Amino acid sequence: MYTKKLIALFAVVLTGITAYAQSTQQLSVQVNKPGALIQPAMWGIFFEDINFAADGGLYAELVKNRSFEFNDPLMGWDEVKQDSGKGTILIINRKAENENNPRYARITVNAAAGAYGLSNEGFRGMGIEKGKVYNFSMWASAPKGSTLQGRLLLLDEKGQQVGEASLSGFGNGWQQYKASLTATGTAPKAKLQLLFSGKGEIEVDMVSLFPAETWKHRPNGLRADLAQMLVDLKPGFVRFPGGCIVEGRDLANRYQWKKTVGKPEERQLIINRWNTEFKHRSAPDYFQSFGLGFFEYFQLAEDVGAAPLPIINCGMACQFNTREVVAMNELDPYLQDALDLIEFANGGTDTKWGGLRASMGHPAPFNLTMIGVGNEQWDEQYVERYKVFEQALKSKHPEIKLIASAGPFSKGPMFDYLWKELKTSRADFIDEHYYMPPEWFLANASRYDSYDRAGGPKIFAGEYAAHTKEGKDAESRNTWGSALAEAAFMTGLERNADIVQMASYAPLFAHVEAWQWRPDLIWFDNLRTVGTPNYYVQKLFSTNKGTQTVPLLSNGAVLAGKDSLYASAVIDAASKKLLLKIVNVSSAPVQLDIRLEGAVAAKGAPVQQVLSAPARGDFNTLDAPGRVVPVEKKISASGNRLNVTAAPASLNVIAVPYR
Ligand code: AHR
Repeated sequence: MYTKKLIALFAVVLTGITAYAQSTQQLSVQVNKPGALIQPAMWGIFFEDINFAADGGLYAELVKNRSFEFNDPLMGWDEVKQDSGKGTILIINRKAENENNPRYARITVNAAAGAYGLSNEGFRGMGIEKGKVYNFSMWASAPKGSTLQGRLLLLDEKGQQVGEASLSGFGNGWQQYKASLTATGTAPKAKLQLLFSGKGEIEVDMVSLFPAETWKHRPNGLRADLAQMLVDLKPGFVRFPGGCIVEGRDLANRYQWKKTVGKPEERQLIINRWNTEFKHRSAPDYFQSFGLGFFEYFQLAEDVGAAPLPIINCGMACQFNTREVVAMNELDPYLQDALDLIEFANGGTDTKWGGLRASMGHPAPFNLTMIGVGNEQWDEQYVERYKVFEQALKSKHPEIKLIASAGPFSKGPMFDYLWKELKTSRADFIDEHYYMPPEWFLANASRYDSYDRAGGPKIFAGEYAAHTKEGKDAESRNTWGSALAEAAFMTGLERNADIVQMASYAPLFAHVEAWQWRPDLIWFDNLRTVGTPNYYVQKLFSTNKGTQTVPLLSNGAVLAGKDSLYASAVIDAASKKLLLKIVNVSSAPVQLDIRLEGAVAAKGAPVQQVLSAPARGDFNTLDAPGRVVPVEKKISASGNRLNVTAAPASLNVIAVPYR
């Protein structure tokens, strides 16, 4: 009995020693051997109008179907009769007169007492905050109703009034009428009533309500809280407008940037391709008003200090959908759109498109340096069309870098074919996409360590996200486990910054009640927003980007999965900091004994930022946004040695001042 106990005790001690011995890792960082430059644009963002990311999301307009142009012109609108007020509503179509915005509502009011009018439901309601100012505007003409009195009401979910303003002095002929109101209550799902009393007729169009506090207080602006989430990422580039939305389900539905610039009321609305894409998440009220158009995208990129990266249609609709391509002899207008886009972004104010940019309030150029030709395209028809674009763009604009597509898959015959064709082209980047399970991201952390480096284009990891099947809640697929796998993969991107020069997670935004695709980087409702664990992974990499890679080795080899560890290192020349990213995907802590080569720790304590969670299935929600967020702690270094603990399932970003 005694002997048995002793043996058991011995076994426990031995296991403990072995576990300790296995979990202490010796790492060396060759600070004296700086390698590839980290491109300023390395970690960027991918914006696509999916999941109500634009209308109902980043674009701060609160009125849905403001110009009655949805297929069902009164979708989102309801007739309102107050007390004995009566009337009728007619939708008039004046296509010959106004091709882009043909419809308006004619409201005939018979309300000597009471009121009659319309109510708008917003995008899954309107987010209204007590004490905040809201700016209303509408275009109207009242040929037979100049005595009508108008009233705006904001009502909360229970029908209680949370805001009010009045409108009057309507005249014959289209004019814009404006009113401001201060909300007296908070309502995440308010609605707007536009009521008239008296007798007469009024025609209304472009009925609009914006918070006064848009991003940078711009009219026609962006939701400030969502824009701030982007600013905090310090992205190196902003890719826009997508994604498959560039392609459209068919060519008629493709993204045409020229239709998204100029006065908002002259931008032609089209159906959003994500309206019908997924039967299980259909969104019949999903359209593109283009209130957030190319001018605003360029401005956003400028605001966040990022390089603009537009993707243009190359004469191909979505190959997963209709497979419609434009005939080769009719490709010119598509090419012209690309050339004109360069003029819009960079041209002098004396040029046609540069002049339009100036008239919209931005005479200075937007410094466009790169363009993506097509989104997820493949096969010979892509290569054929890409080459026409390449020939024209490179000869007219050699200063613009070109991005070509490697298709939607991370490997396989389609991928190999495109790489073979494009390797010898003049494309500057190949756009690779990976929507794969977390295991793929772990296995591919060394993907680029042995990539062919002999000439040819660099890599743009233009869309990626680890897709797990866990979870029922909207935000739940953005689990810590998925983010951890992405972090491991990103060490491989950073380590290979000589060939991987840009990367962006996708998609960027999702409304919790109106999403079509998940996971997504940032979730929001009408008043709140939450960063996912994946968001914090992106943020930790992009805010600790550094300027040059340095080798981080374990027994002379890169660390990409050995003992469940993944790592990369960069130095930041300006701040003289060494920035280590160490990912431990095991369920046990790991002791790291890190030796700097050719440098010693300088004054100032090293800082370790740890992103971790009790369980890999954990995720952040709007109600609990802080479950998985980085925690910062000071650690110590002595000479050229640093001892660090990497917690179970954690991303660790360690900043060490050095000399
Ligand atoms: O990010 C969502 C979609 O995934 C993009 O629109 C498309 O490019 C990819 O298939």
